[in-house]
Amino acid sequence: ISEIARVKNLNRLQMGRHEVDAWYFSPYPKEYAHLPVLYLCEFCLCYFGSSFMLSRHRKRCNLLHPPGNEIYRHEDISVFELDGKRQLTWCRNLSLLSKCFLDHKTLYYDVTPFLYYVMCHRDDSGCHLIGYFSKEKESADNYNVACILTLPQHQRHGYGKLLIEFSYELSKKEGKLGSPEKPLSDLGLLGYRAYWAETIIDLLLRMTDDISIDDIAQKTSITHADVMNTCQTLQLFKHYKGQHVICIPEAHQERYRKALEKRKRRIHPECLQWKPPT
Ligand code: COA
Ligand code: NA
Repeated sequence: ISEIARVKNLNRLQMGRHEVDAWYFSPYPKEYAHLPVLYLCEFCLCYFGSSFMLSRHRKRCNLLHPPGNEIYRHEDISVFELDGKRQLTWCRNLSLLSKCFLDHKTLYYDVTPFLYYVMCHRDDSGCHLIGYFSKEKESADNYNVACILTLPQHQRHGYGKLLIEFSYELSKKEGKLGSPEKPLSDLGLLGYRAYWAETIIDLLLRMTDDISIDDIAQKTSITHADVMNTCQTLQLFKHYKGQHVICIPEAHQERYRKALEKRKRRIHPECLQWKPPT
């Protein structure tokens, strides 16, 4: 593909009641590439060149949620598990859509090696896509996330952290430690740093005994390297009686408590109906 063809092609995307700018190039078929607005069916993610074509499609499309199994439901949030091999078209459409907001990653044109965890907001009219992450069925590097995305219209509301939390809940059920695939985008790194910091602080605030890097890793499914980095950044290592201990300085405890109270959305593990795929 020539350089020119990789320049951002689409301008805007309409999905449901939202219209957003595309950030990057996405390989939609070329007859759609130069339209001012691409119209997406928010349920099957098929794309159309005009609102007329979309409304005609909506009369025939009876999908009201992503295909696949609903494995999590808490209040108005649901998560569906999709298999790239079984829900091929839907997952390809999701990849095309998400490439609009992902720069650095090679898009996985081959969706078959991945599972997709798709988070939706449920209301009377259906399950509306918020974001998702993909995960290799077999990861040699123990990555627990390949790609992660919150749709632009839903960003900065805590859903990125909720998706990340969900990915670690899956790792806990697998009895594994996990980390996202590298390299992460700038926004991805910000999201992960925020999640790691909050999760480790939350754990430390609730512990009365000393805790080691390994304890933290086992309780959170965050890898030792990611725990180490986070503790270093937050300056949680202290020298005490000739030993290294991890603790939150007394003076900062109140500030951290207040900050954590603001985090409203959490994953409720008891609402996850899932066994690791065999
Ligand atoms: N500027 C500064 N900090 C930001 C930020 C921004 N634009 N977006 C996120 N952050 C940081 C903040 O610390 C934020 O926590 P806070 O709002 O409590 O301060 C934290 O990241 C997580 O925010 P959250 O609302 O939970 O995440 P999100 O729903 O906006 O999703 C991504 C985060 C990374 C999934 C989202 O930005 C995205 O989809 N980006 C495009 C795709 C991508 O780059 N994916 C990762 C690479 S595979
Ligand atoms: Na993808």
